[in-house]
Amino acid sequence: MTGTSPAKNIGLRGVTVADTKISDVDGEHGILIYRGYKIEELARNSTFEETAYLLLNDSLPTEGQLQEFSGKLVAARALPEIILEAMKRLPAKAQPMDVLQATIPMLAMSDPDLTDESREANIDKAIKLITRVASVVTAWHRIRNNQALLSPDTGLNHAGNFLKQLSGDVPDQETARDLDTALILHADHSFNASTFACREVVSTRAHIYAGVAAGVGALSGSLHGGANAQVMQMLLQLEKEQDIHGWVRKQLDGGQKIMGMGHAVYKTTDPRAKFLKEMCLRLGRKLGQEQWYRLSTQVEKAAIEELERRGKTTIKPNVDFFSAPVYHMMGIPNDLMTPVFAIARIAGWTAHIIEEKFGDAQGKPALYRPSSEYIGNYCGKSGCVYTPVSQRT
Ligand SMILES: CC(C)(COP(=O)(O)OP(=O)(O)OC[C@H]1O[C@@H](n2cnc3c(N)ncnc32)[C@H](O)[C@@H]1OP(=O)(O)O)[C@@H](O)C(=O)NCCC(=O)NCCS
Repeated sequence: MTGTSPAKNIGLRGVTVADTKISDVDGEHGILIYRGYKIEELARNSTFEETAYLLLNDSLPTEGQLQEFSGKLVAARALPEIILEAMKRLPAKAQPMDVLQATIPMLAMSDPDLTDESREANIDKAIKLITRVASVVTAWHRIRNNQALLSPDTGLNHAGNFLKQLSGDVPDQETARDLDTALILHADHSFNASTFACREVVSTRAHIYAGVAAGVGALSGSLHGGANAQVMQMLLQLEKEQDIHGWVRKQLDGGQKIMGMGHAVYKTTDPRAKFLKEMCLRLGRKLGQEQWYRLSTQVEKAAIEELERRGKTTIKPNVDFFSAPVYHMMGIPNDLMTPVFAIARIAGWTAHIIEEKFGDAQGKPALYRPSSEYIGNYCGKSGCVYTPVSQRT
């Protein structure tokens, strides 16, 4: 027998497994910081490029450092031809998150510096990943729709170029800035499931791409990044519903969750949701699509009331609740909403991978290896007797 571990915590809730200097979530008070800066401060004043630099490094860049970093992101935007060729052979119905996860090892295969594990090489790989995850998402969307691939626009920032490479149209400045802000809000979130997956994989000394591929897989689930697409599906389903409160009550009575509500750490409203809620209202007014704000806030109000009635007073909207209608109004299809989460979170994933690889926060790298309690068959110290297959009934 393996013996029992001193403490068992299913799901690792509240268990501190490492030190980090990158970000922190105060779930009681609804506070999120990246490298000491509150998320509201960054969302109002920073850009995705600058925030990505901040996450990867320990401080905000100088003007020169930011220019150099942004220049590297722009220079690496185009995908290697072999990846585009491989993507053209994938079934058009393939889910975008599966395509994204499948292309990450291809990025590894086309990296001439793959085996260079120096910090500088890892930072360079992080920069290529930050820019190319977005390129994979736009390329896949055009390939599956039989549309010609578009070259990156070197005059646009990361968010603007993403929207242009997706639709072919240069976005207006306000829309590009809104996506930029949404990317900042999604860029990191301490030891969430996908970031932990990245860190756990590279703790074995696997390369950065192996870690990122694991992160993409973890993000795809509906309890994590996959929730935004499910929120939009719910809103589309409720567009003609007269009795929103009744629908919410029925869902909860049937043991169903209201997607985009609740959080493993926040016990109050997610600070990112507050920002996205305002954005949802502003975008709705600008585009004459206020119905999405109206509908989302009706669901929010009904869900909070019904959950409170059932004694669940800490379940509030999370980041996915209002990002869904925001992305919808930006023209982002439902099944690209989780990939858009990935194009932001790649900044945090790569920062955490580098911190893990070099033991930046806790002195030296560690191999994650939790224990489990064995509760399966047990035949005593000598083990169960093996019966040949022909004698089994
Ligand atoms: C994110 C999430 C997994 C975190 O929850 P958690 O801390 O693990 O808590 P649990 O899932 O164990 O839920 C605790 C209780 O609250 C309920 N609950 C949690 N989120 C709920 C939701 N969105 N709708 C309805 N009930 C919910 C659970 O059903 C459970 O009830 P029970 O004790 O009667 O079984 C959960 O809130 C959820 O599934 N939300 C919807 C998916 C989502 O939006 N995910 C994105 C997160 S950023």
